[in-house]
Amino acid sequence: MLNNIVLIGFMGSGKTTIGRELARLFENVLLDTDSIIETNYNMQVNDIFTNFGEERFREIEISLCDWIKNNVNNAIISTGGGMPMRYDIRDIGNVFYLEAPLDELSKRIIKDGIQKRPMFEQFSAIDDLYQSRVKIYKNMADYTLNALDSANEIAEKIYNYVKGY
Ligand code: S3P
Repeated sequence: MLNNIVLIGFMGSGKTTIGRELARLFENVLLDTDSIIETNYNMQVNDIFTNFGEERFREIEISLCDWIKNNVNNAIISTGGGMPMRYDIRDIGNVFYLEAPLDELSKRIIKDGIQKRPMFEQFSAIDDLYQSRVKIYKNMADYTLNALDSANEIAEKIYNYVKGY
């Protein structure tokens, strides 16, 4: 079993921010999957969706997960919100789900700029997307945290859980 700490959750749940806190607390490396993909392709996620389509993006995510599974241990991994739909994320480490209601997440996403989030562009479909994903996130999680708590608090809870305090 890999010792990676894997953060999952819907867009806007704070996976990257909390990943940074955890990297600091554990003095481990943070791998942010969206950032890795953007660096490798020298493109924003949004442009990958526009130029190659969602399916291609998902294939890239899956091969990145396979690479992590075979090569990475003792790291903090912040995933893209759709990753657990297509990959059994438990295969890459201990899974922590950052849970929050859709209205709160929507506020954060809008504040951050929806143009960065291709999956959020169709507002009408977002509720269905959220409902279908929540079940999968919960199912895959070793531990579910309230994403509305401060990043600091969440990171400390994860730290204590992992250390067995
Ligand atoms: C996606 C979430 C995004 C990014 C891509 C697809 C999704 O990551 O991977 O836009 O399907 O929910 P964040 O969860 O970090 O926004």
